Amino acid sequence: MGKGFFISKNLGIAGVVVGAGALATIIALSVVYSQEKGKNQDVEAQTTLSPPKDPWDIYRLPHSLAPVSYNITLWPRLVINDITGLYIFTGQSAVLFECKKETDLIILHSNKLNLTLINGQHARLTGVDGAEAPAIQNSWLVKKTQFLVVRLQSSLQVGKRYELYTDFTGELADDLGGFYRSEYYEGEIKKVVATTQMQPVNARKAFPCFDEPAMKAVFHMTLIHPHGTVALANGMVLASVNVTIGGQDVTRTSFEATPTMSTYLLAFVVCEFSFISSDGGKVLIRIWARKQAIDEGQGDYALKKTGPVLEFFETYYNTDYPLNKSDQIALPDFSAGAMENWGLITYRETALLFNNASSSSADKEWIATVISHELAHMWFGNLVTMKWWNDLWLNEGFASYVSYLGANSAEPTWNFPDLIVLKEVYKVMSVDSLASSHPLSTREEDILEPAQISELFDSITYSKGAAVLRMLSEFLTEPVFARGLSTYLNAHKYSNTVYQDLWNHLQKSADMNTELNLPASVEDIMNRWILQMGFPVVTIDTTKGHIAQNHFLLDPDSTVNRTSPFQYEWIVPIKWMKSGADQTLYWLQTKTATHLPMKTSESEWVLANTKVSGFFRVNYDPGNWDRLITQLSTDHEVIPVVNRAQIVDDAFNLAKAKKVSTSLALSTTLYLQKEREYMPWEMVDRNMGYFFLMFDRSEVYGHMQAYLNKQVTPLFEYFKNITANWTTIPEKPLDQYSQVKAISLACSTGVAGCDSLIKAWFQDWMKTPEVNRIHPNLRQTVYCRALASGGMEEWDFAWKRYKEATIASEADKLMYALACTRVPWLLNRYLEYCLDPQMIRKQDATATIVSIASNVVGQPLAWNFIRAHWGNLYNNYGGGSFSFGRLIEGITRRFSSEFELKELQQFINENAEQGFGSASQAVDQALERTKANIKWVAENKADVLKWFTDNSA
Ligand SMILES: *[C@@H]1O[C@H](CO)[C@@H](O)[C@H](O)[C@H]1NC(C)=O
Ligand SMILES: *[C@@H]1O[C@H](CO)[C@@H](O)[C@H](O)[C@H]1NC(C)=O
Ligand SMILES: *[C@@H]1O[C@H](CO)[C@@H](O)[C@H](O)[C@H]1NC(C)=O
Ligand SMILES: *[C@@H]1O[C@H](CO)[C@@H](O)[C@H](O)[C@H]1NC(C)=O
Ligand SMILES: *[C@@H]1O[C@H](CO)[C@@H](O)[C@H](O)[C@H]1NC(C)=O
Ligand SMILES: [Zn+2]
Repeated sequence: MGKGFFISKNLGIAGVVVGAGALATIIALSVVYSQEKGKNQDVEAQTTLSPPKDPWDIYRLPHSLAPVSYNITLWPRLVINDITGLYIFTGQSAVLFECKKETDLIILHSNKLNLTLINGQHARLTGVDGAEAPAIQNSWLVKKTQFLVVRLQSSLQVGKRYELYTDFTGELADDLGGFYRSEYYEGEIKKVVATTQMQPVNARKAFPCFDEPAMKAVFHMTLIHPHGTVALANGMVLASVNVTIGGQDVTRTSFEATPTMSTYLLAFVVCEFSFISSDGGKVLIRIWARKQAIDEGQGDYALKKTGPVLEFFETYYNTDYPLNKSDQIALPDFSAGAMENWGLITYRETALLFNNASSSSADKEWIATVISHELAHMWFGNLVTMKWWNDLWLNEGFASYVSYLGANSAEPTWNFPDLIVLKEVYKVMSVDSLASSHPLSTREEDILEPAQISELFDSITYSKGAAVLRMLSEFLTEPVFARGLSTYLNAHKYSNTVYQDLWNHLQKSADMNTELNLPASVEDIMNRWILQMGFPVVTIDTTKGHIAQNHFLLDPDSTVNRTSPFQYEWIVPIKWMKSGADQTLYWLQTKTATHLPMKTSESEWVLANTKVSGFFRVNYDPGNWDRLITQLSTDHEVIPVVNRAQIVDDAFNLAKAKKVSTSLALSTTLYLQKEREYMPWEMVDRNMGYFFLMFDRSEVYGHMQAYLNKQVTPLFEYFKNITANWTTIPEKPLDQYSQVKAISLACSTGVAGCDSLIKAWFQDWMKTPEVNRIHPNLRQTVYCRALASGGMEEWDFAWKRYKEATIASEADKLMYALACTRVPWLLNRYLEYCLDPQMIRKQDATATIVSIASNVVGQPLAWNFIRAHWGNLYNNYGGGSFSFGRLIEGITRRFSSEFELKELQQFINENAEQGFGSASQAVDQALERTKANIKWVAENKADVLKWFTDNSA
């Protein structure tokens, strides 16, 4: 699945420091949503306990039968059914399968489908090619394991083929899973789209099937749909004819057979969208969306980039694109960011649609990365698929890693290879440094139930997966890595693998290159990174040339209960430099070692993990820290920009872990008056964000503001100067991000001239609503600041624009800005809107409440709101796209006093009986984090206050 909730699109958007607009991140809810659903199913299941050990009680299919092909016809009704009062679909499916092991049981998946009885049974069996089908003895459905079981009077014969036919009805619900319904308005007219999201285990909700990734088959699809609608599926349209079925005039569209593939990659859509397409080329590329969006040219950017990215991957993998078409479709309601269905990729609108006049650079970057991620899966994931979900990390980590390479080929000026450090590596380190983290790789037998599968879609899987594969590619070198990939894809195409298969191919490729000098096999090195959780902090003592590694834990008082097969030791590839000069790669293979070249004189410094190519943090002796900080203030450009960001993030995290002092961490920000680059500023913003959350209600706040004001003023003046008093924008994308950061930080710390500038822009727009002259890059910040300092008039104006917005990314910016107001009753009303789908789409409700909570005024309101409505929320949104975990996390982030701890504890006690469902872990973490915050504030407040006071003058 593409880009779930682990990745946030916050580049070019204000950080926490700015206040409410800060968390203007796109949070796709797929993950938590599926968890929610998984858990609910589990609860239902407990009431239908069967005796243990029967094959239908075990979550995995018995593997005595193997599907060969399916012939499926589905008919979604786009109007409410008079009898049931539901939107429904009907269907027929025939699956041809081969018997591999003698059995008298046919077990396959079927969930939430009403199967029509045929001669009193749920299915009909026929023999194929002269095989004789045994008679059916009985058949039944198992709710817990989501199976359809057919017991035969005698056994199926090994090597023989049979066909199982089913006829069924299902609900076309608005639940964002399986075959589901999305709605939008064209003027006053409501339009209904029937679409799909099968990953991970929802194909069984659309038709009975062997719903495991290794159960690959060929799919023949047919869709019945109203005249005037378009039907799309994985393959090209084969034939489309008008027919009358049961007195209804409809169109029947059949599609080319798919290649041999997994069920989770199926997709079909019935809609009234229009499209644009590439001309010529051996692969047909089409971009589909609402008519108005296509007419406005919102699909043009995606169309322009899809072809080149596909070609990049053909070259990179050294393998042709396996299909003859690539459809990309933008859906108004979509749970994840996007989904890599083979040949028909589905997206959230914000992940595909772009409009030059109103979309920002950050919107564009997001679209390029998401498209690239999904296209990368067309080979890695779709052509070659993991055997079982426990290897999901390889699939998603890989796509996440190479999406930066693909996006870089499409947009070479964006510094994508550096951005991965901020967006994946450091982002996931903050999760992976908790004692409650988990290893990347899981044993196959530990992942059985749908809820366990859904839980795998987390940031460890995506971002840590990407980070360790990037590290591997860095030490193997890109050509060696790509050559191994190519042979791997070729050897396993149309089939399934385990991660060891990839290691084998990479090893062979590495063996062909005698210059590599790896200290151990690819498998030995990589097992340390995938079979144990966490990562090391490498400590370098430059006075002696000593070097050591330790498991890095953010909270040094936490207890690690999980044992590691390697005792939390890693084989660490260390790229490093001495006073600006690159040195030979050093491999740390033991807990401690002596590496004399790292011993330095008083005038030299050592900097390790150059380009942050390794997944670890670095600490030094105090002298070396001093010399690095001095280097930053004398000539910071000697240190590569990514490593300037690294120094800030490592220092702040080491301080939290009590490995260096908080004042040392703060000292890494002293040089910022000279810094013009985006990445270090982004890191400062992120890390200072925590200080603001902890202290923005205390006396530290004023001094912190004064210090940052002083540091950011030169940046603000610099951009004012080079943009001719804000009339142009910088050319390079990362300079644009830096400009946005300059304005957001300057305004939030009260730099002279900033707020008045923003107010004037917004007033100008309010005077002529039809012409918005605010540059798209700056809109997020400008809207938020303007609403923060404005009142009802500004709010109502922005609300009106939100409801009228015709591009999703503009609507998103306004939606987040609406949470920035400081007027309590407006915030309370906005909170109420979050429970009304007519006001705020269900898919956006959590994100909106969380942005209200990140506003210092909104936080207590949101907390009260959640407590008051918890029962209602829990019962009415429990099965929907509402992310409770994310909600609890967002609302409790600031908690740092005994009083808040008590309130939280009370809230937990009051609801203990009902439980917290998928938020249980988040509730525990909130409790732990609040306690840690109280401790941190107590230990650091005086020092922090003194440091800011001393340095803000
Ligand atoms: C699929 O089923 C339909 C109707 O049962 C039949 O006409 C068609 O030939 C079948 N197609 C394939 C590829 O088996
Ligand atoms: C399936 O059957 C149940 C029980 O008869 C009924 O309540 C439900 O509405 C049916 N679903 C559909 C989609 O027809
Ligand atoms: C089906 O009928 C509709 C409405 O009469 C018409 O517009 C369309 O062209 C027909 N399609 C085919 C394939 O004949
Ligand atoms: C480890 O176990 C201890 C004692 O049971 C417990 O207090 C602690 O929370 C556990 N740590 C984690 C990360 O689960
Ligand atoms: C503004 O730009 C001019 C010329 O480009 C330069 O001389 C001046 O130093 C700049 N001022 C600032 C504050 O950067
Ligand atoms: Zn993916």
